[in-house]
Amino acid sequence: MSGARFYVTTPIPEPALTLLRAAGSVELPEELPDAARLREVCLSGDYDVVVSQLRDSFDADLLAAAKIRGISNYAVGFNNVDIGAATANKILVGNTPGVLTDATADVAMLLIMATARRAVEADTFVRSGKFTGWEPNLLLGQDVSGSTLGLAGFGRIARATARRALAFGMQVLFCPRPPGDRPVPDAELGEFAGRVTHTDWDTLVTTSDFLSLHVPLNEQTRHLVDADVLHAMKPTAILVNTARGPVVDEAALVDALKSGEIAGAGLDVYEDEPALAPGLAELPNTVLLPHVGSATVAVRSEMARLCAENAVAMAQNRIPPHPVNP
Ligand code: DGY
Repeated sequence: MSGARFYVTTPIPEPALTLLRAAGSVELPEELPDAARLREVCLSGDYDVVVSQLRDSFDADLLAAAKIRGISNYAVGFNNVDIGAATANKILVGNTPGVLTDATADVAMLLIMATARRAVEADTFVRSGKFTGWEPNLLLGQDVSGSTLGLAGFGRIARATARRALAFGMQVLFCPRPPGDRPVPDAELGEFAGRVTHTDWDTLVTTSDFLSLHVPLNEQTRHLVDADVLHAMKPTAILVNTARGPVVDEAALVDALKSGEIAGAGLDVYEDEPALAPGLAELPNTVLLPHVGSATVAVRSEMARLCAENAVAMAQNRIPPHPVNP
């Protein structure tokens, strides 16, 4: 045993705890620590690495005072950590990339299908005893096949979504780094060369039937989808967000859904999670999931393994296998 000391803010699946215990001691609180408790933990000098989740926030002030070597985030996203401040204070940060790509793309596709075909409304209709038999005009939705999917971002999860969309007969457009642009050479497109179309942000917004968000949350992407963007979308368009809630101005989204500026939204993430913008939950043209993009048994277990491997490496003064700020 190396004597490494881990503080794990929330129970995560095996094999994480076994791997951590093999490398040192593990403290697992009964409840997710609040900000004050997390600060105490980080400043105590009692722990080498904090194994965190998205609800644990590490801001510049906390990181400047923290006496820890590393933060191993149980997520691919790391917008809960001020990476610049972590780097400045020589605190390593690790994440869990790759293993949740397909699961999250499945949920993007699920939201596309469920909103287009009104699956939640239809389910409620049946359960409430309203189904009295087949009708020509019952719960008509939109075609997915033949429609245009616009991908904001073109990283791993966007590409996995493109793969699924192409198999569903959709035309796929992408804007790699909205709201700006950057050239994407054919060689970088790999299997997608000639099968997907690179566009600028305005074209993506105005021509997509489904606009699916796959960007990290940062100062460039906060409120990327605002009232102007929603106004510019087709009135028949559907917005899908499996990325991060604050990429969308949620109050503006509620207005746009109410006024018919867009036709629907499928959301797995929210601006002020777990709170919803007033009015959102009452809208029938939405499908709302509780941030479950990566929520399969196998994926969460793989995330736990990567997270523990990162934590052990950091505690032993090694660069973690999946570093965010090497
Ligand atoms: C992530 O990993 O960033 C997801 O949002 C949760 O799995």
